[in-house]
Formats: sequence, C-alpha cells, structure tokens
Amino acid sequence: MIAIVLFGKPGAGKGTQAEFLKEKYNLTHISTGDVFRFNIKNETELGKKAQEFINKGELVPDSITIDMLKNEVEKNMDKAGFLFDGFPRTIAQAEALDTFLQSINLKVTATVALEADDEVLVQRILERGKTSGRADDQDETKIRTRYEEYNEKTAPLIEYYKNQDKYYAVNGIGSIAEITERLSEVISRF
Ligand code: C5P
Ligand code: MG
Repeated sequence: MIAIVLFGKPGAGKGTQAEFLKEKYNLTHISTGDVFRFNIKNETELGKKAQEFINKGELVPDSITIDMLKNEVEKNMDKAGFLFDGFPRTIAQAEALDTFLQSINLKVTATVALEADDEVLVQRILERGKTSGRADDQDETKIRTRYEEYNEKTAPLIEYYKNQDKYYAVNGIGSIAEITERLSEVISRF
C-alpha cells in the first residue's frame, strides 16, 4: 500500500484533485476537514469538540485530530493505499502519523504539494464560500486566521518531509486536468 500526503494551503485544490486521484490510483481519500464537517453536521461528540475551533479558522487540537485519522485509516484498509488531504497539519500530527503507519507496516510514501500564491487562494476561497456553505470560507478574518495557522503550524512540515526526501511540489495554477497530470507524474513513480 502507498500513503500519499496531499499538501497545500487552504484553497490550493487538494479536495478537487483528490476526487480524481483516488479513482485513478484506487486510494482511500481521507479529508480530515470533511470528516470534521460530517461530524459537525451530525452533531456527534467529535463534532461538538471540533466545531468551535473550525468556526474560528483555528486548528483542532492534535489529540482529537490524530485519533480521528487513525480511526479512518483502520476502517479503510481495502484499497491500494491512502490519500491524506488536510492531514498532517502540524509536526506533532506528522510524527504521530509516522508512528501509527509504522505500527501497521506502512509509511508515508510521498508528500505532494500544490503551490499557489496567497492572493489567488484567498480569492478562490471567497468564491467557494458562496456555495460551500462553510462559515470559514465566507469571512476574511477567518480565512486570514487559517493562513496564520498554516504559516505557523503547517509550513514547518515542508522541511520535515524534505529532510526525509519525500517532498514534491507541483504548480497548482492551471486547469484541473493539467494539475491532475502534474500530480500523477509524481504519484506514478511509486
Ligand atoms: O482541510 P480543510 O481546509 O477542509 O479543514 C477545515 C478546517 O478543519 C481547518 O481550518 C481546521 O479548523 C480544521 N482542521 C484541523 N486539522 C486538520 C484538518 C482540518 O484542525 N488536520
Ligand atoms: Mg479540502
């Protein structure tokens, strides 16, 4: 099995690309943001815990997110591997992922990043907010908080994966199909 981390700032296109890549490579797509939103909608205990953070644009505490991720992986061992979208978002999450994958004889195969300028991304998110129904997509203050969280807590992962020779970046600007092709060039190597 392979385990691909799809990396990028909010609005970079991770979810959009994952929809294509999961079919192409028979991968289980785990979007931690989607799992949180599902739980919020269904008013589960997990949803209640996560909601206040997400609505402010802040990251949910690591312990909650890590437990949820493990649970999602364990439920989905039937495909050719995993495509993680929006996880890990902190060094602690990345370390926990390494330890956990090792315990089930897997490892992170590669981290593939979608690169784009903040200005383009903020506009994309505001556009998405018109239809996504996501409170955190509609308010510039919340969007700004998400970028601050990214810069402070998530950006250090670039070094983390570079140090392991697992970091690959592709240009995230272009048509959806072009970007799928760029990502596929990387994923097909494994
Ligand atoms: O990945 P996505 O942008 O859908 O995540 C939406 C929100 O969910 C984030 O802004 C954050 O509040 C929360 N989240 C998190 N930790 C993750 C993934 C998502 O706190 N690993
Ligand atoms: Mg997403």
